[in-house]
Amino acid sequence: MARVLIIGASRGIGLETTRQALEAGHQVRALSRSGAVRGLADPNLEKIRGDALDGGNMAAALDGVDVVIQALGVSSLGDLFRPISLFSDATRLLVPAMETRGVKRLISVTGFGAGDSRASISCLQRLPFQMVFGRAYADKSVQEQLIKDSSLDWTIARPGVLTNGRRTGRYRILDEPADWRNGIISRADVADFLVRQIEDRTWLRKAPVLVN
Ligand SMILES: NC(=O)c1ccc[n+]([C@@H]2O[C@H](COP(=O)([O-])OP(=O)(O)OC[C@H]3O[C@@H](n4cnc5c(N)ncnc54)[C@H](OP(=O)(O)O)[C@@H]3O)[C@@H](O)[C@H]2O)c1
Repeated sequence: MARVLIIGASRGIGLETTRQALEAGHQVRALSRSGAVRGLADPNLEKIRGDALDGGNMAAALDGVDVVIQALGVSSLGDLFRPISLFSDATRLLVPAMETRGVKRLISVTGFGAGDSRASISCLQRLPFQMVFGRAYADKSVQEQLIKDSSLDWTIARPGVLTNGRRTGRYRILDEPADWRNGIISRADVADFLVRQIEDRTWLRKAPVLVN
């Protein structure tokens, strides 16, 4: 059993990861600005209100933790069209805070199209992707580089287009750039991958693309 901090635990992948990590028997500290973890009550769950951009909040959140899962996201479609630095700013704060405290394991969600996976976006999708997600993914690329340059034991998960479908456990983990492509995957299956990484080191220092 590990003590896991989940950053961005109130919705989406983070909430689903919180649910599955508890099911797997881990102790979970669930952090978001709202502090909400809808529908979950468990003796191994600690809900905390905190901002990933606040050094004091993050220092407190890291206390006694073995593993960090970073599942931050911007709140609305409108936010995608404003300048975005959430991912890089939060990671610039998180990485040294983890290094200082000797918390080694970081599992982070970015997305297909971030970092070197950008080159694998099809010609047809490239322009609409850039128009809608360009700002977010430019910042996610900076986030990835900060993680890769760290001394942490990191894994970066790059899911394709997210759905709210059920957990199937049947999804592809694409490691080789030649295989990278877009596709859909449920948040529950992304959470399945993230929770497996708490104890599995197969994908250490790797950034696979996840699709059905
Ligand atoms: N949509 C897609 O098809 C797609 C595809 C690939 C990758 N992704 C990526 O996957 C990730 C997860 O997306 P999602 O839709 O499942 O989740 P989401 O709804 O975007 O949830 C984001 C989480 O981050 C938290 N958060 C945001 N700012 C925060 C801050 N400053 N401090 C602490 N917590 C903060 C939010 O909680 P509070 O608001 O309560 O703080 C929420 O719990 C995102 O990075 C997204 O870009 C999305």
